[in-house]
Amino acid sequence: MTEARIVLDPRFQVGPIDRRMFGSFVEHLGRCVYDGIYEPGHPEADARGFRRDVLALVKELGVTTARYPGGNFVSGYKWEDGVGPREDRPRRLDLAWHSLETNEVGLHEFADWADKAEVELMLAVNLGTRGVAEALDLLEYCNVRQGSALSEQRRTNGADEPFAVRMWCLGNEMDGPWQLGHRSASDYGKLASRTAKAMRQLDPSVQLVACGSSNSGMPTFGAWEREVLAHTYDDVDFISCHAYYRETDGDRASFLASAVDMDSFIETVVATADHVKSVLRSDKTIDISFDEWNIWYAERWENEERITDIETWPVAPRLLEDVYSVTDAVVFGGLLISLLKHADRVKAASLAQLVNVIAPIMTEPGGAAWRQTTFFPFAITARLAHGTALHLEIESGTMATPLYGDVPLIDAVATLSEDGSAALFVVNRHLTDASDLTLDLGALGDVIVSECLTLADQDQDARNTREDPQRVTIHANESASLKNGVLRVELPAVSWTAISLTAA
Ligand code: AHR
Repeated sequence: MTEARIVLDPRFQVGPIDRRMFGSFVEHLGRCVYDGIYEPGHPEADARGFRRDVLALVKELGVTTARYPGGNFVSGYKWEDGVGPREDRPRRLDLAWHSLETNEVGLHEFADWADKAEVELMLAVNLGTRGVAEALDLLEYCNVRQGSALSEQRRTNGADEPFAVRMWCLGNEMDGPWQLGHRSASDYGKLASRTAKAMRQLDPSVQLVACGSSNSGMPTFGAWEREVLAHTYDDVDFISCHAYYRETDGDRASFLASAVDMDSFIETVVATADHVKSVLRSDKTIDISFDEWNIWYAERWENEERITDIETWPVAPRLLEDVYSVTDAVVFGGLLISLLKHADRVKAASLAQLVNVIAPIMTEPGGAAWRQTTFFPFAITARLAHGTALHLEIESGTMATPLYGDVPLIDAVATLSEDGSAALFVVNRHLTDASDLTLDLGALGDVIVSECLTLADQDQDARNTREDPQRVTIHANESASLKNGVLRVELPAVSWTAISLTAA
C-alpha cells in the first residue's frame, strides 16, 4: 500500500466550470447515428425513429452539448442534402469513412433529437470542399427567424422556430492530410477568418471555433496554432484541441499517465494562444474547445481493410467500435480530471463520440443498449462537478513511465458549488498497489461524505459486452471515513474515485 495526502482549500481556485465541458460528439460515422441514436423499427423507437432507451442513457450520461455532423465527415458534407422531404434526399458517398450516406437523418431530425436529449446543438461547417457562401447559407437557415429565402425554407421544412445555434466549428482537423480539402495553416487561417467575419456579419452572437492541430503529435503542432490564430485572433472565440489515447506495446504505465500528456497539450496551446495575444497586443483571450477527446485504439481502424470498390460502400457499417476495459475507464476519468484542472481555459469539450463509435453507449440493432466502462466516470463527473474547479496540493509517490518519465501516482481535482457542496475526483495510477489517501478538508468547514464511488476491478481488463453488459459497474467505496476534517479512503490499484461532500 502506498500513501498519499491531499489538501483542499476553497481559496485555490482555478476557474468556473462551463457546463459545455461535458459535451459530446455525434458524427455520421459508422453506427453512431444510424442503428445508434436512430433506428426506426426498433421496439424502443419513437415516432421519428429515435431510440428511447438510447436517449435515456444519453440523459443519464449527462452530456450538455452535441457537436454535429462531424468530424472528418463534415469536410465532404452538403447540409442541404439532409433537409426537405426524405424521399427526395440523395444517397451520397462519404469519402471520409467509405460509407453510403442516406441522409435519412439531417439537421431537422438531429435538432429535434438534441431538444429531446436536452443538449445544446453545436454545428461544424464544411471548410473542406466548401466555403464562406455555404457556411452563410447554413447559418441563415438555422438562425434567421423568418422572411429570408433560407429561413422560410426551414419553416416550410417544419421548423417554425430558428435552431438558434450559438457555437460553430470552422471546419474539422484541417491540418490533417487525411482531411478532404486539407490546407496549410496560412490557407486555412485566411479561409477561417473570412468565414468567421461573414458569419458574424449575419449573426454577431455566434461563438466560433478555429481548428487547432488534429493532435499534439502532428509535425506542425504549435506552429499551426500560432499561424491560424495570427489570421483569426479577432474573429474567433476558441481554438480546438483533439486528443485520443490508447495503450501501445503493453506499456500500461504510460497509458495510465495519459492525462500528463493532456495537461501539457492544453498548457502548450494556451501558451501559444497567449503568445499571439501578446504579439497582437490584444485584450481578448482565446479559450479552448477540446472538441474531440477519448480513448481510441485507432490502430485497429488503421489496420482494417478499407472497402475501396465504390459500388459496395455500406450504409452505417460497424466502425471504430472499441470495447473499453476498466483500465481504459480509469485513464478516461483521468482525462476528465485534466480538463477540469484547466477549467479556466477549457471552456468547452466534446467526448468523441456518443453512441457505438468509440462511445460510452453501445447498441445492437433490434436489441439492447448498454453502458461501457467509460460511461461511469463521465456520468458521475458531469453530475457532481459544478461551480468552480479547485487546484489541490497533492503529495504522493511517483511511478516511472517510458513515455513521460516519473509521474505522480495520484492525480486529482476538486470542484466547489455555490451551495457549498464539493466534489473530488481522484485517480490511483499504481499498477499493483492500493493507496491510503488522507484528505485534509478542514478549510471546507463542516461537511459530510454523501457519496464515495470507485471504479476498479480485480480484472483490470474487464469490459461490458453485448453478452455481459453489466460485468463492470461502479461501486460504493466503503473505506471512506471522515473525522475532524480529515477524510481517509483507500484507493485500489488502477482506480478512479469520486467523492461528494455536502455541508453538514
Ligand atoms: O472521432 C473520429 C474522428 O477522429 C473524427 O471524425 C476526426 O475529426 C478525428 O480524426
